[in-house]
Amino acid sequence: MTHPQIHDARIGVLAGDGIGPEVTREAVRVLRAVAEHAGLQLSFTEGLLGGCAIEETGMPLPPETLQLCEASDALLVGAVGGERWDSLPAERNPGLGGLLRLRRELDLFANLRPGLTYLPDESPVRDADVDLLLVREAVGGLYFSPDRGRRTVDGVETAWDTMTYTADQVRRIAVVAFELAAARGGRLASVDKANVLESSKLWREVVTEVARDYPRVNVEHLYVDNCAMQLVLRPNSFDVIVTENLFGDILSDEIAGIVGSLGLLPSASLRGDRFGLYEPVHGAAPDIAGAGKANPAAAILSSAMLLRHSLGHNDSASRVEQAVTAVLRAGVRTADIARGGRAVSTSGFGDAVLAELDARYAAARAS
Ligand code: IPM
Ligand code: MG
Repeated sequence: MTHPQIHDARIGVLAGDGIGPEVTREAVRVLRAVAEHAGLQLSFTEGLLGGCAIEETGMPLPPETLQLCEASDALLVGAVGGERWDSLPAERNPGLGGLLRLRRELDLFANLRPGLTYLPDESPVRDADVDLLLVREAVGGLYFSPDRGRRTVDGVETAWDTMTYTADQVRRIAVVAFELAAARGGRLASVDKANVLESSKLWREVVTEVARDYPRVNVEHLYVDNCAMQLVLRPNSFDVIVTENLFGDILSDEIAGIVGSLGLLPSASLRGDRFGLYEPVHGAAPDIAGAGKANPAAAILSSAMLLRHSLGHNDSASRVEQAVTAVLRAGVRTADIARGGRAVSTSGFGDAVLAELDARYAAARAS
């Protein structure tokens, strides 16, 4: 999913709640610096999403925000949610009513979550030198079943959700995953629960069918429980993993654990054209909000994904990723990964990435 380069783009910025605004600020600083170095015209327009939108408008995804999204070439999202809004009904809370509805309204079905070991010593898993990509179906399954509800049945409190997938929904995410696998290491693990679930049986059939168009990609089918174990036992053997929405939600946090911090995982939500929504995998972490303790690496790495997938600027994207890696490896760390050592603040980390980025562009100009 790469597109020809564009040099002029409107970026919608939905910083959200908790630590969202502070990590997003660093991502925007990095994009502005890249724009200056690479001669891009980027405009940034802020909008409300999640709890902050509820406070201002009574709705987690107000119509003005949707309009902003539709008028943008790409979106940078921080994080949404917080205890204050937890008791709201699901459709009106920051998660389901805000972020998930946004993914769904914009049909951003392909959620790319790369897992890379930036800091080998941070991984609790032996020999983890991971470079994998989780492709999560993001607008179907249990999260969005029309058949969900809660009722008292014969005096017993009952609640239900249903996991529904159409063959077309599975096919389009499978195609994305095969394309990505073909462009990477040529290996794809398709994760389901086909020994139990009807939706997973269909999933496996369709993935098997799509595999015929990609003879060079090596496919393995794994049950999700086994995949959870294999990720810990042999994390380096995975290249691309494709799975449905809830399994992907769970496995992506497991991958975060394996690489050592949720603060290091970026994501892109795509739909096949160049539009995309880019956000850290982590949540709003209200307990540390405003304290300058949040790790902006995931947000900054998400902006690199924006440069790659929406703007086609692969070189600039790689430069940002290399700058983040260099800074982390030089020992510049926020509290989540400082291990009792000296921790830099959120903006201190951003400063270090910007300095590294400037040095890299200057070196490229000089050579
Ligand atoms: C994620 C998050 C969301 C999800 C929440 C905030 C609704 O956990 O992006 O992984 O479940 O998709
Ligand atoms: Mg999650």
